[in-house]
Amino acid sequence: MVAIIKNNRAKIKGLVFLLGLIPLLMLFLGVAQDSLGPDPAKALSHSSGDWALRFLMLTMAITPLRLITRSSEWVHYRRMLGLFTFFYAVIHLIIYCLFLLGLQWQDLWGDILERPYITVGFLAWLLMLPMAITSTHRWQRKLGKRWVRLHRSIYAASALVLLHIIWQARSDLAEPLVYVLIFAILIFVRIPPIKKRLFSR
Ligand code: HEM
Repeated sequence: MVAIIKNNRAKIKGLVFLLGLIPLLMLFLGVAQDSLGPDPAKALSHSSGDWALRFLMLTMAITPLRLITRSSEWVHYRRMLGLFTFFYAVIHLIIYCLFLLGLQWQDLWGDILERPYITVGFLAWLLMLPMAITSTHRWQRKLGKRWVRLHRSIYAASALVLLHIIWQARSDLAEPLVYVLIFAILIFVRIPPIKKRLFSR
């Protein structure tokens, strides 16, 4: 299985790229067909946020996949998945500024300072920005060990994203708690003694 994936890496990467654009297409179609329900702005904001979160989980799932299959092949897909996370987080922010705030910039700063779920969402987004910028091989070579340290901020960004969705969900916590559980598993298998016990023969 892994060998097949390895031999067809370029084609599979192309396919993953096209699949990653489908949520964007769905957002456009929703707007074009006016099928987003009674509150289109909210529907767009939720959908883009959900996709940013799903890609974040897929990015974080690469390490467990590598450990389970004992193959580093999956690492070749991590950058693309991470960049899709940021891409949908940027769309999420643009939708928020454009449709929910109506480009009232003073309201954006007001929201960031006064609404805790926006504060943590924005901090998560800010942490993702340098990771997206330095995601190229060139930056990886240039920064060396500092690149690894910088990209560890994915854990802090994930924690902030979880806070963001728990805070904004208010009373209906079922869905956010599913995400918390998934993240907890993704983190748990990375803890060195657990990793050793589960994945070393
Ligand atoms: C850039 C700063 C951000 C702002 C201003 C922002 C704003 C918002 C807003 C206004 C909502 C809807 C709240 C409601 O309807 O009551 C929301 C929900 C959400 N956001 Fe963000 N967000 C930000 C960053 C992020 C990031 C970085 C992620 C994920 C990587 C994310 C994921 C989500 C998710 C999953 C939801 C819930 C969607 C649902 O309930 O279906 N947000 N955000």
